[in-house]
Amino acid sequence: MDVADLRVAYRFGELADGGLADGWLTLARTWIEEAIAARLPEPNAIVLATIDADGAPATRTVLCKAIDERGIVFYTGTRSNKGQELAAHPVAAVTFPLIGMERQIHLRGPVERVSAEETLEYWNHRPRGSQLGAWASHQSAPIATREDLEAQLVEVTARFADVDPIPVPPHWGGYLLRPRLIEFWQGRADRLHDRLRIHPPDPTVIRLQP
Ligand SMILES: Cc1cc2nc3c(=O)[nH]c(=O)nc-3n(C[C@H](O)[C@H](O)[C@H](O)COP(=O)(O)O)c2cc1C
Repeated sequence: MDVADLRVAYRFGELADGGLADGWLTLARTWIEEAIAARLPEPNAIVLATIDADGAPATRTVLCKAIDERGIVFYTGTRSNKGQELAAHPVAAVTFPLIGMERQIHLRGPVERVSAEETLEYWNHRPRGSQLGAWASHQSAPIATREDLEAQLVEVTARFADVDPIPVPPHWGGYLLRPRLIEFWQGRADRLHDRLRIHPPDPTVIRLQP
């Protein structure tokens, strides 16, 4: 296997100059809906970049759980590496890698915590097992063995045995990225891809060379 020989011609679609005429949110939703319809795995997965304590970028995948006029929302452990990084530097960049559609959506901007009410509403939609898992895990902290992790789950499962609904852990919640830059990328033939960028709230659409 030689990765240098991996080459795909992108021919799925195009992004016309007027592609953002109905606004970024409409196009983003359309692309995500098309990815769902095409049965792409995890079509709401985003690669989230934060700034670490040394000023270096750090990335990982999370799931986008809301996309609306404000921007995009994801949920995670607030004590995690990313939680600490966002507390120190409340800015982020995210990319939806919709590779199966030969597309990506990229957003950057300031990040803030979502309200306790919004977090609770989403939390209540989560299966009980996921809720217990969130309580059981000190996300991003080292742990000696898998067995120790499972023991923590046994402990919280017992603790919440008679508790329904399970409350939101104090170390867990939602984050909202309010985009100041959004770019849509559509793969085209011969690497002459389409890129349209906007800087909300300015509606001016900028086409970038691929
Ligand atoms: C497909 C996929 C979806 C994920 N979704 C989430 C998520 O929604 N929230 C989360 O905290 N971690 C999620 N993770 C795990 C993160 O990538 C990461 O390992 C974890 O959040 C710890 O990151 P950190 O140490 O940089 O804070 C997901 C991973 C994958 C591969």
